Amino acid sequence: MTQKILPEAYEYLKEHTEIEVGSQDISPGKEEIMAKIKDKEGLLSLLTEEIDKEIMDAAPSLKIIANCAVGYDNIDIDYARKKGIQVTNTPGVLTDTTADLTWALIFAVARRIPQADRFTREKKFKGWKLDLFLGKEITGKRLGIVGMGRIGRAVALRAQAFKMETLYFDPQRMSSEHEKKYQASYCSLDELLCNSDIVTIHASFTPQTHHLISKEKLKLMRKEAILINVARGPIVEEAAVAEALEKGQIWGAGLDVYEKEPEIHQRLFALDNAVLLPHLGSATYETRLKMSMMAARNLVQGLKGERPDNLVV
Ligand code: DGY
Repeated sequence: MTQKILPEAYEYLKEHTEIEVGSQDISPGKEEIMAKIKDKEGLLSLLTEEIDKEIMDAAPSLKIIANCAVGYDNIDIDYARKKGIQVTNTPGVLTDTTADLTWALIFAVARRIPQADRFTREKKFKGWKLDLFLGKEITGKRLGIVGMGRIGRAVALRAQAFKMETLYFDPQRMSSEHEKKYQASYCSLDELLCNSDIVTIHASFTPQTHHLISKEKLKLMRKEAILINVARGPIVEEAAVAEALEKGQIWGAGLDVYEKEPEIHQRLFALDNAVLLPHLGSATYETRLKMSMMAARNLVQGLKGERPDNLVV
């Protein structure tokens, strides 16, 4: 296990396996993983570890990599498949939690919550003012969802409460039944960017989605629009977002993920119209426990030679 998971899941693993845990509270470096994985049959990884060919080659007995995340772009899936190593993820359990955080970010940006909080703590509140921290209305606006998987759909359902019109783009169009259920209209990415007041990214990160929201695509967005990314950093060209915010080309951005986590593009720090979170999409105790348990069970199933519940390859 590269890092400790939540205690209940750790206890479960201790009952069923012999475990060695990474030596640090944060992601261990590649060298440590390579050294410790040599004699292991299973690996429980977090999304902060890049599990590449070299690591897999260093572990001749490796049967399973149980990733404690729904995304598995940190693992060389093709190579795992080639080597017959099973890979699992933790789908479903973090859908609502991540959709909730998406809305928290949308409101934080639109209603300028972090700036207003700072202002109040700095004892600058001298009384009600008609034009104090004027934000953007959400109710009745047009929402554009890029990636209409589980999380995108959960975001769309919540938009109904705010009487929003929802556009979506996904390589796979939903059935008309689902379009009705989620009250979402299909369109091209360019149309979505041109017409949405809020653009929120929920696509998975693959070579095809790298810089899907590029400098050029950002230019299509409305001057009054907000961009939200709670998916994976590299889907958005981070430097271009900083530039767009600086130039007032878009109104605001809420980012939970970054291109080279934990590094964040320096210019974003100075921008008041950006709300920056440290990758908290699924961060509630309940959900992180479900993820930890799911990853632990997948790992034990794989070690026993059973088909794990959440097999990716
Ligand atoms: C995931 O599971 O992929 C999320 O990013 C964790 O928050």
